[in-house]
Amino acid sequence: MREQRKLDHLNLALQSNKSERYLSFDELHFIHRSLPEMDVQECNVNVNLGGLNLTSPLIINAMTGGAFSTEQINHDLAVIAKETGMALAVGSQKAALRNHKLIRTYEVVRKVNPKGIIFANVSADSTVEDALEAIEMVQADMLQLHLNIPQELVMPEGDRHFKGMIEKIHHIKEKVPVSVIVKEVGFGMCKETYETLKGIGIHIIDVGGKGGTNFAWIENQRREGKDFDFINEWGQSTVVSLIESAKYQTEIDFISSGGIRNPLDMVKSFALGAKAIGLASPVLSLLKEQGVEKAIHRIQNWHEQIKLIMTMLGKPRVEKLVNASLVVTGTTKEWCECRNIE
Ligand code: FNR
Repeated sequence: MREQRKLDHLNLALQSNKSERYLSFDELHFIHRSLPEMDVQECNVNVNLGGLNLTSPLIINAMTGGAFSTEQINHDLAVIAKETGMALAVGSQKAALRNHKLIRTYEVVRKVNPKGIIFANVSADSTVEDALEAIEMVQADMLQLHLNIPQELVMPEGDRHFKGMIEKIHHIKEKVPVSVIVKEVGFGMCKETYETLKGIGIHIIDVGGKGGTNFAWIENQRREGKDFDFINEWGQSTVVSLIESAKYQTEIDFISSGGIRNPLDMVKSFALGAKAIGLASPVLSLLKEQGVEKAIHRIQNWHEQIKLIMTMLGKPRVEKLVNASLVVTGTTKEWCECRNIE
């Protein structure tokens, strides 16, 4: 059943990203400066995330593994990561923790890219033992703990017990030998969640906002009668989730993810204080529709286009973009007013 679910997710994710969604990045507007006084060659897209130096600010976010046919996808994603310098997160490793025959579908990423940056991935309500085994399985540089409560609740067979998760995250964070990233999967986050995670010592958060892959929609497609579909727009957009993070950015490194469409969305994320960018279904779509070589070429092109936009803004380094002037309009502006965010 879990294997079939993973295959459904891969197929439905590509449709979900094409469905009509609220595109919060279109409500952010850079103010054009006619005299930036810099050259493109001065630009550098290296970033530091939780103490790790990343040659690309882009991360292939957690997607797959855990069904035999996903080994090839993880292999191809690892080739893309290796050639572009992107960090790569594997999908939830629970399947392999329960059935060791499936380990190969995850460990392939380390075999293909022995020196790359790789993130392990388990649910935030996992045990310390499972977290340690997941890290070991891919010799991970960091561990992602995912939060996906709305997804579980739309699934008739999903989890219904969420008490004690804060303590579990804290416990894992204390016991594992690598940094922990707490991530959402497309429902976004808010300052109250950041406050809680800060309180248990979490230093890296992936906001996983609404606007891209939509797991409420995906699970409704799988659900007989699709009778919980009024919940499909639950959650905060990626832009709102980043705006909510402003007060916490000195202590926590934020990753912008969820519906990132192009380098302009990436640069807007940096302007809102993100340290790195996570992309899941956009990389999967590139791989499925164009193959490995063209996907690598497109991502290398994104790196160059990020530099071109940085030049227009007169900001040669990613961390300088946080001072770039943005005007916020529409629903995002109304959200800021309601939440008293300047
Ligand atoms: C995901 N995502 C995900 N996240 C996670 O933490 N563990 C997982 O196992 C999975 N599985 C998964 C499968 C597929 C097919 C997709 C497309 C996505 C969520 C993913 O990492 C990301 O948070 C969301 O997809 C939002 O980003 P995009 O797709 O809008 O860029």
